[in-house]
Amino acid sequence: MDILIVDDSKLNLNIAQDMLIENHIQCSIVLANSGEEAISILDKMHIDIVLLDIVMPGLSGVEVLKIIKSSDKYKNTNVIMLTSLRDKSILKQCFELGASDFINKPIDSTEFIARIKASIREIFYKESLEGAFKMVSSKNKKLSEANKTLRETQFYITQKEKIVAVGELAAGIAHELNTPLGYVSSNFEVFKKDIEKVKDIITMYHDLISQMNALGIENGDIKNAVDKIKNEEKSVHLDFVLEDLDGLIDESKDGVDKAAEIVRVLRNFAEIEFEPNIKLNDLNSIIEEVLLITSSEYKGKITVEKNFKDIPMVSCSRGMISQVLINIMTNAFQFVKISYLEKGGKVTIETSNDDKYVICRVVDNGPGIRPEIMNRIFNPFFTTKDVGEGTGLGLSVAYDIVVNKHNGQLVVENNKPSGAIFTVKLPFDYD
Ligand SMILES: Nc1ncnc2c1ncn2[C@@H]1O[C@H](COP(=O)(O)OP(=O)(O)OP(=O)(O)O)[C@@H](O)[C@H]1O
Ligand SMILES: [Mg+2]
Repeated sequence: MDILIVDDSKLNLNIAQDMLIENHIQCSIVLANSGEEAISILDKMHIDIVLLDIVMPGLSGVEVLKIIKSSDKYKNTNVIMLTSLRDKSILKQCFELGASDFINKPIDSTEFIARIKASIREIFYKESLEGAFKMVSSKNKKLSEANKTLRETQFYITQKEKIVAVGELAAGIAHELNTPLGYVSSNFEVFKKDIEKVKDIITMYHDLISQMNALGIENGDIKNAVDKIKNEEKSVHLDFVLEDLDGLIDESKDGVDKAAEIVRVLRNFAEIEFEPNIKLNDLNSIIEEVLLITSSEYKGKITVEKNFKDIPMVSCSRGMISQVLINIMTNAFQFVKISYLEKGGKVTIETSNDDKYVICRVVDNGPGIRPEIMNRIFNPFFTTKDVGEGTGLGLSVAYDIVVNKHNGQLVVENNKPSGAIFTVKLPFDYD
């Protein structure tokens, strides 16, 4: 405990010092003859208690008190005013300025020691309280950190489970569809060749009939048979059927090829990695795949416009970036649908690049995002959908993948006159 006694009277200084020593107050004592000396001592060393005379030539006790209480440096220093009867009127001001107590002059030993001990106790309690407060704050901080880690872990587990479940489903469907699609596809090849053969034979029959007509074969039975065939050909519109057959086969083959492509994309999707598997990828082709996977969300309901530039390949995890685009594009389709129950919903997907990034912008003309929730939409579990409709994880997963796992950027802004724009930027230099 360090105590500074400030008084312009040497006698008072000595009396106070002697009382502290005689009463075995455990402290070191510093003496100052004036306000100026007191300030200079306070500047140089730590003081716990200042015993401060009010009336002094030069800096008065009140002025010294003002200096002490105006600085954060002395916030733990207790100031006790030494007052004579005639200073009583100033005491009120001293308390308003922050003095903690006063001692009457001439100094009475019992009062003096009681006040000093009370001040020492106050300092001790204050210090213990501060220590306890620090401990509680640090425990609180640790608790919030643990809570945050817990939420993040829970979020990743939920997300991982969700992706695994969808992945397994996708893999299952792809597997089941693959075999029938395989034989339908190869049957089409055979079918096309067989039809050609049948067509050749029909042509040969036609030629035979023409030759018979030219030779004038008049056998009644043969004529009847030929007429019957001709009538039948007419009634089934054989010319039209033969003409249409090629188109039908080609169209069906196209359909089977498209279904096979979807199976391939589903298989790709089923292999989504949880750790980035960084390879050179073409962002345009990733978007095409995502548009295939999400087609049920927009086909026949929303206009999807593609505005792709010829962009360079970029290092990224194909599976993870697919996930990002699925989440962002699904949001766009869903929110556009909410605002356009009829026709008029539109989502434009643009790609481009600058000298550092490949860029994908998903622009919709839905309701857009209210300014007050703009900085919350990337938080895990934040959703404006009805209970049970959305997990609120889509954008937080997208943010984590783009920003944390790819050193990229994911920003959102509102579109004019309405709608939202999500911009994904992936750097060429992935470290
Ligand atoms: N294109 C958009 N237009 C308007 N609001 C959007 C759009 N995309 C996201 N939001 C807002 O951001 C919120 C969070 O989106 P996020 O994808 O994380 O979760 P969600 O879509 O609500 O749930 P889930 O993805 O699990 O279905 C949404 O609830 C919505 O309020
Ligand atoms: Mg979503």
